[in-house]
Amino acid sequence: MYQSPDSDLAYLDYNATAPTRPEALKATVEAMSAVGNASSTHRSGRHAAERVDLARRQVAELLNCAHGEIVFTSGATEANNLALRAASGIGGRLVTSPVEHPAVLETAKTITSGSPDSLMLLPVDADGLVDLDALRKALATGEVAVVSLMAANNETGVITDLGPVVEAAHRAGALVHTDATQLVGRLPVDLAETDVDLLSLSAHKFGGPQGVGALFVRRGTPLPYRPLLIGGGQERGWRAGTLNVPGIAGAGAAAEAARRALATEAPRIAQLRDALEDALVERVGDCRINGVRSTRLPGVTSITFNGAPADAVLAAMPDVAASEGSACSSGAPSPSHVLLAMGHSREEADSTVRFSLGYATTAPEIERAAVSAVRAVRHVRAALTAPL
Ligand SMILES: Cc1ncc(COP(=O)(O)O)c(C=O)c1O
Repeated sequence: MYQSPDSDLAYLDYNATAPTRPEALKATVEAMSAVGNASSTHRSGRHAAERVDLARRQVAELLNCAHGEIVFTSGATEANNLALRAASGIGGRLVTSPVEHPAVLETAKTITSGSPDSLMLLPVDADGLVDLDALRKALATGEVAVVSLMAANNETGVITDLGPVVEAAHRAGALVHTDATQLVGRLPVDLAETDVDLLSLSAHKFGGPQGVGALFVRRGTPLPYRPLLIGGGQERGWRAGTLNVPGIAGAGAAAEAARRALATEAPRIAQLRDALEDALVERVGDCRINGVRSTRLPGVTSITFNGAPADAVLAAMPDVAASEGSACSSGAPSPSHVLLAMGHSREEADSTVRFSLGYATTAPEIERAAVSAVRAVRHVRAALTAPL
């Protein structure tokens, strides 16, 4: 089990990145200690290629797909770009949602130039669920080439039921891509059951190293050949460049560890999340949980603390690593596009904190976090309502 070097800190930011699993660390260091380019034909190269092959099988086993359907990338951002750029070569309309990660949303806007003829954003309801009737209407036009909907939302943990999406899209002749970055390794994924054509993942969300991900491309998917990186033809031409053998080896080991632990980890994490959520709702009052519990990832709770700006709450609980609901990846905080799409006001969006738990989260950590968060919200509310 991972041990935090900072024992006072309750690390509840797994949706940003998960601690590296010991199995992943070991595999990464072992691969890094060896020499060899996976494309070289001598013995060192073959050993490197074997590590990559093992990792490809481990990732494929986590998804229940064939190892030949995995293309290693530098992460989910690249996998999403690759999927959407390749799929855009088909022509036709791209349908996605306003709550996607920027790696999908901004890519979609860029490749379609934001034109309403080529891009449609489906509405979501107050619980963050995509409007499937709007999807069916869009598909009925016969103009949709690709539907891209995330498997689970990074800010709220809200899960998309992909079964009906795939069924409707395929009936209309459209491909389905899903950004499953937050779901893979946290809940079971079975690509023999869920017939998506393309799926993106990122190793660091399930305990692998940062800077490694993959795109699943279902065999036989009629994708125009449109790699982002052109060069030496690695990854069957889909992603040129010397393979990141240590990172890929770590991703594979993390995938295997996550797969083995899934059945016990998911319910244990959900129980801890529920305990945290219940404690905060009861002891803080005047707050709102975003997304219905039963349709959320087990480890995620996004809470709007009315009258308590999230930046002040986070500053008042330095012993808890959580995250603002707002998107501040570029360093310039702006209200969360996800929460705005769910109908929040700007003020509500700015008063939202995301706690995300994972495989190494413990009950004492949750108890400490609950005490700190309650104290922090009360402190911020009191400070803001105190007479001058
Ligand atoms: C849903 C989702 N998609 C894509 C990404 C980007 O992943 P990466 O860091 O591997 O590029 C993230 C990262 O937070 C994410 O949560």
